[in-house]
Amino acid sequence: MSTAYLNGEYLPLSEARVSPLDRGFLFGDGIYEVIPSYNGRMVGFTPHIERMQRGLATVGINLDWSVEQWRELCTSLMKMNDMGNLGLYLHVTRGQDTTRFHAYPEGVSPTVFAFVIDIPPEQTVDRNLVKTLKVSSARDQRWQHCDIKSTALLGNVMHFQQGYAAGNNETILYNERDELTEGSACNVYVIKDGVVNTPPLDHQILPGITRLILLDILRKDGSIPVQERVIPMSEVLAADEIWLTSSSKEIAPVIMIDGKPVGSGEPGPVWEAAQKLYSANKFNY
Ligand code: PDD
Repeated sequence: MSTAYLNGEYLPLSEARVSPLDRGFLFGDGIYEVIPSYNGRMVGFTPHIERMQRGLATVGINLDWSVEQWRELCTSLMKMNDMGNLGLYLHVTRGQDTTRFHAYPEGVSPTVFAFVIDIPPEQTVDRNLVKTLKVSSARDQRWQHCDIKSTALLGNVMHFQQGYAAGNNETILYNERDELTEGSACNVYVIKDGVVNTPPLDHQILPGITRLILLDILRKDGSIPVQERVIPMSEVLAADEIWLTSSSKEIAPVIMIDGKPVGSGEPGPVWEAAQKLYSANKFNY
């Protein structure tokens, strides 16, 4: 049984309890993070915590934890759970109220919960060994604040289920102008003629930490050009390669969209080059 953290206490996950009057339970009123770690080494710890702190401030949840307090929590959880390939799941809600009332309550302490989830091992850099993904596409039906990593994920869950029910690994989404936004739980990249294109950061997508790290690595290296720009779905369907990124996936090649092959229908050379650079540099973040 894995060890979790809840409001100041480390305890077996099966013994962790929160009240049904917790705002997280009643309203999905909370912010979360997933930080990947491999044998005790985290990827992107500081930017993950900074994104969570920005999210908490945006929704007015007041929790005065320092980055170092979060580091101590993550380090303890990795040790107590025997290292390995762990996603550190951090979850802060507005806290436990005394009734159900929409307005932010006064004088309520946030609920802080954390546990670990198994994630796949570090991504291979071999085109012949990598797990390839198939995706569905769908009109993005989520809310207007997709840049906030909210625990209210029903929109994302429903979109993920659309792809899953069709036998696919993910659903990639487009807005009312037929422009690519992101996946239900990942960011999306469209590779054409050697250039990596990805939608710009705005309210329509989560500012992924894997995205942040990947784009920084690619720009510093300079051998693979990167563009953050609006991408019509017509370009997605005509891509040479499509990739997805998230904290659990690293960079994952997509070989099929809505039952049609992407490019050659196999992981491409730009994926291999980018994943090599990512693997070589990710622990510097
Ligand atoms: N998902 N977009 C959405 C909607 C996401 O839920 C995620 C992450 C990403 C990628 O962000 P990052 O690179 O910081 O993981 C983009 C996490 C892993 C999850 O909900 O499990």
